[in-house]
Amino acid sequence: MSRRILTGIKPTGSPHLGNLAGAIAPAIQMAHDAADAQCFFFLADFHALTGGTAPDELHAATHEIAATWLAFGLDPKRAFFYRQSDIPEVFELSWMLTCVCPKGMMNRSHAYKAAKADQADKKGADDNINMGLFTYPLLMAADILLFQATDVPVGKDQVQHIEVARDLAQRVNLHVGSNLALPKAVVAESGVLLPGSDGRKMSKSYGNTIPIWVEPKRLSKLIAAIPTDSSAKNAPKPKNHALHVLATAFCGTDTQSVDALFDSGASWHEIKIFACDAICAQLLEPRRKYQELAQDSALLERTLMLRVPELRETAANLIAELRSKVGIRRLS
Ligand code: TRP
Repeated sequence: MSRRILTGIKPTGSPHLGNLAGAIAPAIQMAHDAADAQCFFFLADFHALTGGTAPDELHAATHEIAATWLAFGLDPKRAFFYRQSDIPEVFELSWMLTCVCPKGMMNRSHAYKAAKADQADKKGADDNINMGLFTYPLLMAADILLFQATDVPVGKDQVQHIEVARDLAQRVNLHVGSNLALPKAVVAESGVLLPGSDGRKMSKSYGNTIPIWVEPKRLSKLIAAIPTDSSAKNAPKPKNHALHVLATAFCGTDTQSVDALFDSGASWHEIKIFACDAICAQLLEPRRKYQELAQDSALLERTLMLRVPELRETAANLIAELRSKVGIRRLS
């Protein structure tokens, strides 16, 4: 069977440069390169509900993230690009998986354990944990198995969830004699980890993210905040610095010009201006496309719905087969 690459994007918050370098750009590249594979990229909007995201925020994030992926060149004819919530078959599969999943497997899920550890009051440690968060890996497994994904590009923190999906697929196959594809996680090794505005790894949990679509003025403030060392003004600057990573990531193919700048004795201030200009230049064209798309919600909506009939047909075929296999059959 040919490869099927699938990954979900949780629509929470504004997309930042870390998402761009670590997920969006590599996924679009993958869809472009993968002549032998089908790609599925979807907005995991029902997963966002587990975090209690405010309704308007969820709606806005869905809009923003869909426009962002398209602005960076995702071709909806090459890759399936859709919302999880437009494929209700996911829930039917999710229930079937729930019924073969040992509860202990969910107890051991990192996401659940982390939420539990965060509870201030250890006595009622489950009080603020909704069942959606507890069974999060089951919905995720359904996303994956419904389209028989073989390769699932994710961050390290999601690998356990893919293993759950694989385990559940094996259980279903063994139990009812189905032939669900067994997915494997693909953790990008070459993915660039960008620094945030405090010089540490860019992450929502550190509150140091640099949103992709900030105005250039605000961008230069965020970059100005990155801590620098006390190298003398005219001295070469160390290349193991966060600003080197940032400038290199956005200078296109001319990485030598960044090295030359660091060697030249340019001041940190000059380096910051260079990094900011490089980011702005790289984002110029996508920003124009983004603004166009952001203003045309009808076009975005149509784009997300474009291939839903095809997807649902595939999904419905699998569900029909599984229903019959588990014993849910017509009486005549
Ligand atoms: N849990 C993933 C995240 O938080 C999002 C996601 C939902 C996903 N369903 C998926 C990722 C299926 C890969 C495959 O990033």
